Amino acid sequence: MTNHPLVARDAASIWHPFTPLTGLRPPLPVVAAQDCWLHLADGRRILDAISSWWVNLHGHAHPHLAAALARQAQQLEHVIFAGFTHEPAVQLAEGLLRILPPNQAKVFFSDNGSTATEVALKMAFQYFYNRGEQRPKVVALEGGYHGDTFGAMAVGDPSPFNAPFKPYLFEVEFLPFPEADHEAAALARLDALTAPGEVAAFIFEPLVQGASGMRMYRPEWLDQALALAQSRGVLCIADEVMTGFGRTGHWFASQYLTHPPDIMCLSKGITGGFMPLGVTTCTAAVQAAYRHDDLFKTFFHGHSYTANPLACAVANASLELLLGEACRESLCWLTGQQAEFAQRVAARYPQAVRQARALGTIAALEIAQGQASGYFNEARNALYYYFLDRDVLLRPLGNVLYVLPPYCITASELATVYQVIEEFLAGVNVG
Ligand SMILES: Cc1ncc(COP(=O)(O)O)c(C=O)c1O
Repeated sequence: MTNHPLVARDAASIWHPFTPLTGLRPPLPVVAAQDCWLHLADGRRILDAISSWWVNLHGHAHPHLAAALARQAQQLEHVIFAGFTHEPAVQLAEGLLRILPPNQAKVFFSDNGSTATEVALKMAFQYFYNRGEQRPKVVALEGGYHGDTFGAMAVGDPSPFNAPFKPYLFEVEFLPFPEADHEAAALARLDALTAPGEVAAFIFEPLVQGASGMRMYRPEWLDQALALAQSRGVLCIADEVMTGFGRTGHWFASQYLTHPPDIMCLSKGITGGFMPLGVTTCTAAVQAAYRHDDLFKTFFHGHSYTANPLACAVANASLELLLGEACRESLCWLTGQQAEFAQRVAARYPQAVRQARALGTIAALEIAQGQASGYFNEARNALYYYFLDRDVLLRPLGNVLYVLPPYCITASELATVYQVIEEFLAGVNVG
């Protein structure tokens, strides 16, 4: 496959994301995709068990979404979103507000997960600016990932990924990740940081930190943290870019909480994986700080493709499928399968699996291989190629292997994924 002409043309002209330029195999040429399968140029098929970077919900090239996109393309492909509006955007905003926590009142569009968090941070900072309040501090969780733009990097974990940019990032206070034995310390730190009234925003991935290894923490802790932060006037930002649209078992992870966030960030699954789209939602109280005759209290933020009608139309079609009976049943079934799988491998392979966990449609196993923690664990590449060579796309986060499939995955496809993982675990040499 490395001698396919597309691979040479790719190498001559393209720079791929998150990809070291040496030491890796060349990319695989994909010619089509259907349901959970990627079809390669040589006829090989790869089972996409990670929903292509967590975006795909209903399967690749889903006909309902493809038809919605084609229809919209023939009617209105794009229009400037300042001074104009259109049905797909309004319908999507209404649809989202129907399933989001009821305190969410307004929808602001952008084009991806990073811009959704960037908008959320700017929205929170200017909220205090407009009210004439000085709140220079921001709080985030250690291990968080919120995207690759500058604001998103600043509130992300200060990992080697962001090292070259450190001098250019604004200062953020990090709470210890609230795993069981750090819950009290994390809350105490939040208490100390928020007491003086200097914190504008607290940003977090609710219940599951995706990129740092599908790390999970308790909703009860987050609820307490939100109650505390909100009692001090801090705007709480739930980054649901990964957790949104059913991934954790509820439509949004914030629905596990009794204290809903003030601002929410959505992307990835929003269009079922068809089109780039980002959304930041907020309460009426947040927006009220911008309702002013003073021009300079306007939120001067926007992107050329804001609320692109094609993206909104396909998001509406995806939402229809998501709320339908068939998808609800799949979600319920997948949630049960993932929980059982995590329990089973933890019990069967105690030496190979340091920890197994599941929430909703996400299952993650920490493999007892390599020394470094997190994404840079040495086991990563070997694990990735092991599964790819068996026609299953799993893209471990360091030594954390996770399964996060499209909701349409069939019982036999899921059994195949579990089987290759179990075969691997059975062969792990510990030590
Ligand atoms: C929680 C979270 N926020 C933000 C982002 C950034 O999204 P994007 O890659 O679309 O910019 C990601 C991407 O993985 C994410 O997982």
